[in-house]
Amino acid sequence: MSRKLAHRLDAIVPSVTLAMNARAAELRARGVDVFAFGVGEPDFDPPKFVLDAAKAAVDQGVSKYTAVTGVAPLKKAICDAATRWRGYTPTADQVCVSVGAKHVLFNIALALYEPGDEVIIPAPYWVSYPEQVRLVGATPVIVETSESDGWRMSPEALAAAITPKTKAIILCTPSNPTGAAYDEAQLGALLDVVRRHDVWLVIDEIYADLVYDHFKYVSAPALAPDLRDRIVIVDGVSKSFAMTGWRIGWSVAPVALAKAIETIQGQSTTNATAVAQQAALAALTGPRDALDAMRATFEARRDVMVTGLNSLSGVRCRKPEGAFYVFADCRGLYGIKAGDRVIATDDDVASWLLDSARVATVAGGAFGAPGYVRFSYATSEARISAGIASIRSAISHASRI
Ligand SMILES: Cc1ncc(COP(=O)(O)O)c(C=O)c1O
Repeated sequence: MSRKLAHRLDAIVPSVTLAMNARAAELRARGVDVFAFGVGEPDFDPPKFVLDAAKAAVDQGVSKYTAVTGVAPLKKAICDAATRWRGYTPTADQVCVSVGAKHVLFNIALALYEPGDEVIIPAPYWVSYPEQVRLVGATPVIVETSESDGWRMSPEALAAAITPKTKAIILCTPSNPTGAAYDEAQLGALLDVVRRHDVWLVIDEIYADLVYDHFKYVSAPALAPDLRDRIVIVDGVSKSFAMTGWRIGWSVAPVALAKAIETIQGQSTTNATAVAQQAALAALTGPRDALDAMRATFEARRDVMVTGLNSLSGVRCRKPEGAFYVFADCRGLYGIKAGDRVIATDDDVASWLLDSARVATVAGGAFGAPGYVRFSYATSEARISAGIASIRSAISHASRI
């Protein structure tokens, strides 16, 4: 029995979003023109000055290990960015630069959660949160939210989910997969609940720069300075600077937790890639025009996607505040005949969209919200319109039971 895999694998499943991407890529490789509404990454290139900084770093011989938590100028830039864009000022010893926000979250999981602990996660959730919690032997406690409440967890629901075993709450705002974001009053109400309990609050701000309609993003440490000893911020350059492949994210944590994260990372990956750190430094310290342009483009695309989806018979969605996803209720498509099957689940819808309309999406069940499907609008307006037209055509040709 010594060659068996570790039991911790029994509790987790592979990333569904990555699996869907792989299936779409397979079709593309066969020459099929697939509409990429399944992707979780911007289609833009990083700003040119970021790439130039990376090239310069290569030429200057930036090829050695760095400090585990990142090079000092990058950590300073992260603190300055928090001051400027999030309204609070962390110190460099609170920051750990890691290999993308996913790695940041895993470091936090290793540092905080253990068997017997409960970790509260509002659904719909980003796929990796519950899996990482399970991977370290703790228990995810899923709190349902509803579209009619804007996919936001109410303070009452949070309070009801907290038990003596609760170790942490993971909040994602704006959210993947719903795009929903908490405004100041909504976040403040949750912070009032947190204040009454001895729990950690992990906030994933990876989409915080991608908010629309003049939505004012409010960061929890700025709103509740008295709770900074229990708030952990997760952020990075993957989404806002279109740098997914560079793998740079960071945590901003109370110093004792930051030290624990440094110890964990020091025994796992050591530092994030040195050249990528220089690229992230350039992103954070350079002009914001590229980010602003991407945000404006995403906003226009969101409107095309929302209008398009709502014009389809059997599909309905709310207009999200941020990120680059629309989370649509697709239960109106149930009953369509797909070959010898009848569509009866969100998985069926996603498969049918790929087979019949060449549209890649991700079924909502993966995010803990069956009946819904996530449509990413990280693709051009023309492609969004063409993809919607393709779905419309598939619906109009479909027969129903
Ligand atoms: C909510 C959320 N957090 C974290 C991540 C991971 O980001 P990174 O690519 O920096 O690891 C993603 C990526 O899809 C995400 O959607």
